[in-house]
Amino acid sequence: MSQQRPPIGVIGTGYVGLVTAAGFAELGSDVVCVDIDADKIERLRRGEIPIYEPGLEELVARNRERLTFTTRLEDALERARLLFVAVGTPPTYSGDADLSAVHQVVAAMPPSDRHALVMKSTVPVGTGASIKRIFAEQGKDGFSYVSCPEFLKEGSAVKDFLHPDRVVVGDDGDWAGDAVVELYAPLDAPLVRTDISSAEMVKLASNAFLATKISFINEIANVCEETGADVMEVARGMGLDDRIGPKFLQAGIGFGGSCFPKDVSALKQLAGNSGYHFQLLNAVIEVNELQKRRVVAKLQKHLGSLVGKRIALLGLAFKPETDDMREASSLVLSARLQADGAHVVAYDPIAEEQARRLLPGVELAPGALDAVQDADAVVLVTEWQEFKELDWREVASAMRGTLVIDGRNALDAHAILAAGLSYEGVGRGTVASLATP
Ligand code: UDX
Repeated sequence: MSQQRPPIGVIGTGYVGLVTAAGFAELGSDVVCVDIDADKIERLRRGEIPIYEPGLEELVARNRERLTFTTRLEDALERARLLFVAVGTPPTYSGDADLSAVHQVVAAMPPSDRHALVMKSTVPVGTGASIKRIFAEQGKDGFSYVSCPEFLKEGSAVKDFLHPDRVVVGDDGDWAGDAVVELYAPLDAPLVRTDISSAEMVKLASNAFLATKISFINEIANVCEETGADVMEVARGMGLDDRIGPKFLQAGIGFGGSCFPKDVSALKQLAGNSGYHFQLLNAVIEVNELQKRRVVAKLQKHLGSLVGKRIALLGLAFKPETDDMREASSLVLSARLQADGAHVVAYDPIAEEQARRLLPGVELAPGALDAVQDADAVVLVTEWQEFKELDWREVASAMRGTLVIDGRNALDAHAILAAGLSYEGVGRGTVASLATP
């Protein structure tokens, strides 16, 4: 067991809140987790983890004695000085972030000169300044404020918390900033201590840059398709340049998830609201939207009309190792295919429950081989490991047609071709050029 560290409160028990709470408990803090959702708190008390996140259940179980789950904010205020805010900031119709949950938390704070709000939720630049103004108007000037953005990725959130690339702390140079820095000290990560607005911008700019990298490689992939180059080789060649790096150069059928689409749009709106037209981000968003639909054109190229065709989607989550389907490419793709008259059958190892709600009219199969049965074409949407290990001869004998579209360039093209199927990836030149290893 690690040594006893200062207690903290965490408000909001979603991905970020729960991982932050369990992570700080692992480092030795007592953590009071507050959520307005009484059912969720009840489930957490019973040891149930409401989300699928590798390693989280074990981390919570191991630190159970240090974690308190409650709907009462007072419990956190009584026991802790630092209150981490990890509530949702979903996009509104205008593309701006919806800060109503954040404002509810701010409004619920009592006057105090011994507490601080530590913002983990992704918020527009200027939110910290406006919350401080609100505190001042309400006679709560003593309440401190720190921006401490979270960079964890779904599917590897526990590892990302415990081994961050960097810790960013934006504050006014008072006790609260020092206390947050001290809390993260055991992780021994590079620290960026800065002002509140800059910390807020680091988060938005990082996500927007990564999204830009993906849309960039997707455009290169599309040009590769026109010119016969293989984007996998191109990305390998680019990625070895230290200044570029190999990560987030995986071409595919677009990015999704709870952060990239929302944060790119929030940064674009933030710029627009302050009078600046952020042209590049418009292109990033547009490329991503078109990328999700390019699969439909590929299917039509090979199959002609899709009316009555049986199309099997392998994977529905926005990426592997999560059941999250927010902004997943599968949502747009399945709706487009259905609109074109195709019968869509899908399988995802984890996201079935979400899919049942989100994909009306899509037939959900209990396994990959059930999904591909009698299919005219198979599309890999999410690169789960089990799809990489499929026996393509079995797939070939189950299918009615022969077309496999690899939307994530994750499958073994040679094995697929050797099974007598045809293969088309994203930006991988002609199928013929892949026939010889
Ligand atoms: C992202 C950021 O990485 C993280 O720092 C931030 O805190 C939250 O947003 P996450 O949404 O969990 O994390 O997923 P990530 O692994 O970044 O992938 C996002 C999307 O981009 C997925 O749909 C993924 O399939 C896609 N992607 C990623 C690509 O298409 N190509 C790549 O090379 C990398």
